[in-house]
Amino acid sequence: MTIPSSILTLARREDGPLYIYDLAVLHDRLRLLNGLPIARKRIHFATMANDHPRILSLIGAAGHGVFVNSLTHLTAARDADLAPHRIIFAASNMSRDEMEACLAAGVHVILDSLGQVEAFDAIASRGTAVGVRVNVGSAVESAELCDEPSYRFGLLPEELAVVLGKVRNLRIVGVHSYFGTDIMAPKVLLDGLERLGRIGELLPELEYVDAGGGFGIADDPSTPPFDLAAYGRGAADIMAALETRVNRPVTLVIEPGRWLTAPIGWFFVRIVDVKERADRVFAGTNASVAQFPRLLMYPEQARHPCEVVDASDRPVSTRPVWISGNSTYSRDFLARGVRLAVPRPGDLVAFHHAGAYCRSMLTRFLGKNQPGEIVLDTSAKRIGSAPALAEAAE
Ligand SMILES: Cc1ncc(COP(=O)(O)O)c(C=O)c1O
Repeated sequence: MTIPSSILTLARREDGPLYIYDLAVLHDRLRLLNGLPIARKRIHFATMANDHPRILSLIGAAGHGVFVNSLTHLTAARDADLAPHRIIFAASNMSRDEMEACLAAGVHVILDSLGQVEAFDAIASRGTAVGVRVNVGSAVESAELCDEPSYRFGLLPEELAVVLGKVRNLRIVGVHSYFGTDIMAPKVLLDGLERLGRIGELLPELEYVDAGGGFGIADDPSTPPFDLAAYGRGAADIMAALETRVNRPVTLVIEPGRWLTAPIGWFFVRIVDVKERADRVFAGTNASVAQFPRLLMYPEQARHPCEVVDASDRPVSTRPVWISGNSTYSRDFLARGVRLAVPRPGDLVAFHHAGAYCRSMLTRFLGKNQPGEIVLDTSAKRIGSAPALAEAAE
């Protein structure tokens, strides 16, 4: 996997820990989504993947929207100049305050249960358009789409008719679902879209089907990437058939998070100490998993391809390398058992796919500093840098 040379030049100057994002990659990925051959589509970036103001601004400036699930991210989106009609707010268990704030902000809300529809209907003005989340199956725990008993989101399909009979002020114009994250098989997402469309056609005022995110990013560079073209062809067919059945235009909304931003970012750290052991090598770094938190949240699933920068002339370690953090937390590992060049103190290590679910998951755990952040655009001039996340998030 290659890292643009201008990014490496910057990273070499710093000790880290440091995130660098390249907006040129974000532009490229938006172009790929734009090219999907679906008659009517809207892209709403899931801000939970990365809430950096410059990323939100670029999404808005490129004519796209966001999907948020908190008032903090709603405010971040508004601060990044996203108009209310470009913001979808979807959360479960919304409080009355959150509902009122969404109504005041004029954003589009997706409701998650019978009770939430009733509560929102009671305070919304007549004709307010909303969507409802429907549980048509998920692939959170399983490889295929199925009815997972642990799935806590949405109305049951049979509850949709109940909701339609109850609302007085709301117009239910869309159905929403989210089938799981990091799904590598387009078929799983397409099965979900087909099921969602079949439920959506029960809505007399159906305007959109929101199929969430979930487009996968392969952690292993030898795994083929998510087949976006196959998804596009399948989704186009499903949406065209749906429009024929309901005899009206229906927009496909997608909410990509990880697929859109993981490849725009790298995380750089320095090796400060090396311990040789019989079966492994510990490469100790100046960073902690608390500063690279996807691994903290998903220790069993999350993996980030990594490499020692400027070590191509060095042999690969005969023993697996465990990249560890500078704390006393026993699970402070940034990578476990990886094949890497023989590590040495002073080495710069780069972690790929650090543009999603990293900065947005930062935690105060272990009292670590917020890593530096630099945002640049390798297709243009450098557009900004932030020494610390706190500053960047203001
Ligand atoms: C409703 C919804 N949409 C979109 C996303 C983004 O998902 P991903 O990063 O897998 O594309 C999420 C993430 O949890 C979500 O809950």
